[in-house]
Amino acid sequence: MIQTGILGTGRALPEKVVTNFDLEKLVDTSDKWITERTGIKERRQASPEETTSTLSAQAGRNALEMAGLSPLDLDLIICSTISPDMPLPSTASLIQRELGAGTCCAFDMAAACSGFLFGLTVADQFIKTGKAKYALVIGAELLSRYLDYQDRATCVIFGDGVAASVLGPVNTGAGILASEVHTNGTFADHLFIPAGGTARPASCETVQARDHFIKMRGNELFKVAVRSLEEVSARVLEQAGISPGEIDLFIPHQANQRITEAVRERLNIPVEKVYSNISRIGNTSSASIPICLDECVRSGRIKKGDLILMSAFGAGVTWGSVLIRW
Ligand SMILES: CC(C)(COP(=O)(O)OP(=O)(O)OC[C@H]1O[C@@H](n2cnc3c(N)ncnc32)[C@H](O)[C@@H]1OP(=O)(O)O)[C@@H](O)C(=O)NCCC(=O)NCCS
Repeated sequence: MIQTGILGTGRALPEKVVTNFDLEKLVDTSDKWITERTGIKERRQASPEETTSTLSAQAGRNALEMAGLSPLDLDLIICSTISPDMPLPSTASLIQRELGAGTCCAFDMAAACSGFLFGLTVADQFIKTGKAKYALVIGAELLSRYLDYQDRATCVIFGDGVAASVLGPVNTGAGILASEVHTNGTFADHLFIPAGGTARPASCETVQARDHFIKMRGNELFKVAVRSLEEVSARVLEQAGISPGEIDLFIPHQANQRITEAVRERLNIPVEKVYSNISRIGNTSSASIPICLDECVRSGRIKKGDLILMSAFGAGVTWGSVLIRW
């Protein structure tokens, strides 16, 4: 059986930093509240010229360079995003064109904050079965374009960012050891954008009602997040016959530092084995885990042979976990 590993990683972050103090000028909030309730101090915001696909191509090139591969080596591009350049065509098509990746299979995946782990899981199936040799999985979000800067419950949380991983075959014993992904549509209205789709097409009324922006029930999500992250992480470890103590690094989706801390405690993973960049980057939805991965790989925090557990949850609601040996 072919094993799938991550051969290269890359990220692309907009330069503009938006601090909590900047947001204090827009909505009734404070640096103290945001820091204490979420752990976030600042986040990035894309310039008008930057789009999901342009940043994705940049992140993809960085990941391909680390892997020592060219865009034409790719058999598959999966772009996980809920903030595409436009409804049609897929952002993956635009990325493929921008990279010059020939005519390989390329599609978008909408699983919100769990999207990168959904993407890894799907790409793993392509590679394991021999349908693809090399795949580019991208987590890409420009959520600032979907944020209501009059809604303090959401505009303080989310940020922009993109990161990519190149997947390919690795030696037995390394690579993805176990993965599990889930969706529970019963909670679909916990985090959603009401208008702009077939249910409520764009109109003057939907724009005036600010219904093209993200709406969130933060409290309800918090509880679902902690429970599902704990359960799926524990199950994936069990599948691989690994105890929490054997993990070298736990990379949770960067949603809220209090969620990370609650899950860490329940799984009994020491603080020093948990990665967090939420204070600098905020919640970048599907880009959150691959940005962390790239930071860890490039800083030497991840070394060959390390066991990495990645777990995420998000709108849908979706959740999942992937265990990988580097
Ligand atoms: C959103 C979240 C940070 C809110 O934190 P919380 O501790 O649950 O806060 P609550 O929603 O209970 O609100 C507490 C109070 O703070 C207020 N508040 C909300 N946002 C605020 C802000 N940015 N600044 C100041 N006060 C704020 C609320 O209005 C409420 O005021 P009230 O008590 O007078 O009604 C938290 O629920 C959360 O992170 N949930 C998960 C969301 C998530 O992860 N979403 C992404 C999924 S990938």
